[in-house]
Amino acid sequence: MLVVDFGAQYAQLIARRVREANVYSEIVPHTISAAEVAAKNPAGIVLSGGPSSVYETGAPALDPGIVELGVPMLGICYGFQVMAKQLGGEVAKTGQREYGATPVAVSGDGGDLLAGQPATQTTWMSHGDSVVRAPEGFSVLASTASTPVAAFAHDQRKLYGVQWHPEVKHSEFGQRVIENFLHRAAGIPADWNAGNVIAEQVERIRAQIGDGKVICGLSGGVDSAVAAALVHKAVGDQLVCVFVDHGLLRKDERRQVQEDYVKATGVRLVTVDAEQQFLDALVGVSDPEQKRKIIGREFIRTFEQAERELVAEAASEGEPIRFLVQGTLYPDVVESGGGSGTANIKSHHNVGGLPEDLQFELVEPLRTLFKDEVRAIGRELGLPEEIVNRQPFPGPGLGIRIVGEVTKDRLELLRDADAIVREELTAAGLDTEIWQCPVVLLADVRSVGVQGDGRTYGHPIVLRPVSSEDAMTADWTRLPYDVLARISNRITNEVRDVNRVVLDVTSKPPGTIEWE
Ligand code: XMP
Repeated sequence: MLVVDFGAQYAQLIARRVREANVYSEIVPHTISAAEVAAKNPAGIVLSGGPSSVYETGAPALDPGIVELGVPMLGICYGFQVMAKQLGGEVAKTGQREYGATPVAVSGDGGDLLAGQPATQTTWMSHGDSVVRAPEGFSVLASTASTPVAAFAHDQRKLYGVQWHPEVKHSEFGQRVIENFLHRAAGIPADWNAGNVIAEQVERIRAQIGDGKVICGLSGGVDSAVAAALVHKAVGDQLVCVFVDHGLLRKDERRQVQEDYVKATGVRLVTVDAEQQFLDALVGVSDPEQKRKIIGREFIRTFEQAERELVAEAASEGEPIRFLVQGTLYPDVVESGGGSGTANIKSHHNVGGLPEDLQFELVEPLRTLFKDEVRAIGRELGLPEEIVNRQPFPGPGLGIRIVGEVTKDRLELLRDADAIVREELTAAGLDTEIWQCPVVLLADVRSVGVQGDGRTYGHPIVLRPVSSEDAMTADWTRLPYDVLARISNRITNEVRDVNRVVLDVTSKPPGTIEWE
């Protein structure tokens, strides 16, 4: 399935919904030509919404040859209007805008597209222009109080369109519309799943790597863990993983990687013990940017050193390491304009900013996948839940969650508090509700408290639970009071030198997710 992007923030959402219906989907720009579409041989095409008006000069259009390819097509919002205009219907500014929840009346049985849905349903709309006349040969499937043509179909040509956004959850039967289009109208089977992705990726990885050697930096996070597990499934011990323990990890993280992950996957793992090196480099540093730079620099040094040793070892065996595994995800690819995938490594890296002159060919087995799909594949590969379900964790680790100087002692406090928070959130079944919950130690702040019969003068711990789709924006999560109470009680009782727990109730923007 191809999702043609007309500049909406919805294209990614449409691609996800199509995949949720177990059909593989890819996003392509609206400038794609009919020949390029034909070369991809899609089973169906969805045209996304977009911010333009079809009448504006320079409004994004579609190569008219695409409709002539005979591929089943569903137009959504702006995509629906593009279809209407290009096929001879009429789109007009009626002055009747529709935004938000809008009731739609389905005509007759709704045809293939709206089959099995009630005569009226709530949809989510966002449009100023409307289709006022469907093109020749199309039947009108639905209307609203102010939009006479809210959905149409040409059954023989397998062309369909809806004015509303079926991809957003506020459209009551939205997913049904998408599934009806895919399965009933276009006849695409629902057979894309984690198992198929693994089989396909294993084949691709083998074709790319052959009998070459490959290296992977494991961060402990889900992306690199799943990417490495896939590559290992494909080429076994041709892969070596490097895990840098910089001493800024969360509790139990090193053991999980060294024991649970290795047991589940069988990967060859080299752990670099670099705690002292990082702590020494951070002595006397409180400035967040300086900390980030130091941690990044030390990370590169450590990784390069490990890499040199491994490369030398491999070369002495006559097999230099040519490939580097990266856990790049689909949103990164879409946002960067869909790179070719074999470029040399970028400076921004999910393991922590590796330098540009590392000359490897990249292996990126997750570059077609969304985060939740990566988790599903991790599960299918038998990775432990603690790794598959892991919250996003920044490369600089706990180093940027201590406001003030980073010391071994403070890291231990924070590690204990963080472990309690994660334990309680998991026990309360909240792992899927929150995006992540940074736990921050305000090491430079002290407040007065009372414990037992004595006065205390300890540090506050900040809880920063956030809900988010992509970490670009976030809202603070309304955690249940009893969970907050348990966390607060345990931290103040079990973590020495902490006598206060506070909750961060700031959205992003203006606050970032991390405190530093
Ligand atoms: P902010 O704090 O910018 O965080 O709102 C957005 C998301 O990015 C994560 N984060 C990082 N991840 N290296 C990373 O790999 C970093 O230096 C870094 N800084 C922030 C953060 O945890 C959140 O998910």
